[in-house]
Amino acid sequence: MDKIRMTTPLVEMDGDEMTRVLWKLIKDELLLPFVDLKTEYFDLGLLERDRTNDQVTIEAAEATKKYGVAVKCATITPNAQRMEEYKLREMWKSPNGTIRGILDGTVFRTPIMLERIKPAVRTWKKPITIARHAYGDVYKGTELRTTEPGTAELIFTGESGKVEKKLVQKMGGPGVLQGMHNLDSSIESFAHSCFKYAIDTKQDLWFSTKDTISKLYDGTFKEIFEKVCEGYKAEFERLGLSYFYTLIDDAVARVIRSEGGFIWACKNYDGDVMSDMVSTAFGSLAMMTSVLVSPDGKYEFEAAHGTVTRHYYRYLKGEKTSTNPVATIFAWTGALKKRGELDRLTELVAFAGKLEDATLDTIREGTMTGDLAALAEGEVRSVTSWEFIAAIAERLKKYLSK
Ligand SMILES: NC(=O)c1ccc[n+]([C@@H]2O[C@H](COP(=O)([O-])OP(=O)(O)OC[C@H]3O[C@@H](n4cnc5c(N)ncnc54)[C@H](O)[C@@H]3O)[C@@H](O)[C@H]2O)c1
Repeated sequence: MDKIRMTTPLVEMDGDEMTRVLWKLIKDELLLPFVDLKTEYFDLGLLERDRTNDQVTIEAAEATKKYGVAVKCATITPNAQRMEEYKLREMWKSPNGTIRGILDGTVFRTPIMLERIKPAVRTWKKPITIARHAYGDVYKGTELRTTEPGTAELIFTGESGKVEKKLVQKMGGPGVLQGMHNLDSSIESFAHSCFKYAIDTKQDLWFSTKDTISKLYDGTFKEIFEKVCEGYKAEFERLGLSYFYTLIDDAVARVIRSEGGFIWACKNYDGDVMSDMVSTAFGSLAMMTSVLVSPDGKYEFEAAHGTVTRHYYRYLKGEKTSTNPVATIFAWTGALKKRGELDRLTELVAFAGKLEDATLDTIREGTMTGDLAALAEGEVRSVTSWEFIAAIAERLKKYLSK
């Protein structure tokens, strides 16, 4: 069988721990035998980030700007314990944060639903897509720990020389401070991406903030969304779609009572937390896909979950773990599909679709990893990641020869 051709390379960002193990397995078993895979490879593993002073992350993001489509493996965001474990020279920032900062995109996360796995929330019938604003707020915040009483102020010095000052708090003792920001331009891009994605996928758009408390900061988000909405009103009406704004606490309650089938746009932190809640309630964090879309149409596909550290430590002791590779497989298929669409390679698009079918049909017919086996209805065979991927490869060969 001839391998499927590619013309433009995908930007490939390798990662850490268990997902790095799965990454290689997916490539070796599900991609390389069938596709003449072209990638521009960047090793975002923690040691390489440390060795290159994190330049490799910046280069990978720049390459994504150049080529337009990237696929990323989960990576460790270092904390104090990781500094020690990996003997790091610096506590490097979250690679995802860096990439999002450079691409200024919006992250859309959608659960992969299967008939055999019923969501924890009984009313949910369709996927809920979380659109997470990918710029600023606490992810680009500056923090300060003080050791004595004093006065905390917020100061802005304009390029014109105008200075604005506001009292944060007269602090009676030691405490903590945090400064964060966002930009109108980024909020506007976020809103545009959300309205466009809603039109693309023909789903209603919800947006929530806490503008009753954060009148100026969150209030600005609300205002900008309302302004941007005007430009999409006609198209929304034509498609029978609606835009709905509500407070985040009200949104949480409504989401739980809903049937699903809409996009929930969230600020950066809300999106981070809510996407884990939504994915877990839909079944497993390992079944959540994630794509970062920049306002100028660059795409970075990844799984929404992390590096599955607990499994990795067991793997290092020699255990063949049952780690779920589905979201990572879908990151690859999403990227290959998009690359195929952009380069008009119908065979590549069809291959990605067949790999998705082979993956889901393997689960439908009862073979799955432990996390899903614990949730699925009916008879199941819980297998290791190696066995699961081998079963998918077997099925894929059949689908490709049809
Ligand atoms: N996008 C990213 O690159 C990303 C996202 C989140 C966390 N992280 C990093 O991952 C590391 C581990 O973080 P964490 O434990 O909070 O998150 P995690 O997603 O790795 O794991 C959270 C929980 O979900 C389970 N889980 C997640 N994915 C699974 C899978 N594919 N199969 C089976 N079970 C799965 C894990 O067993 C664990 O109980 C950290 O170093 C963190 O910085 C990276």
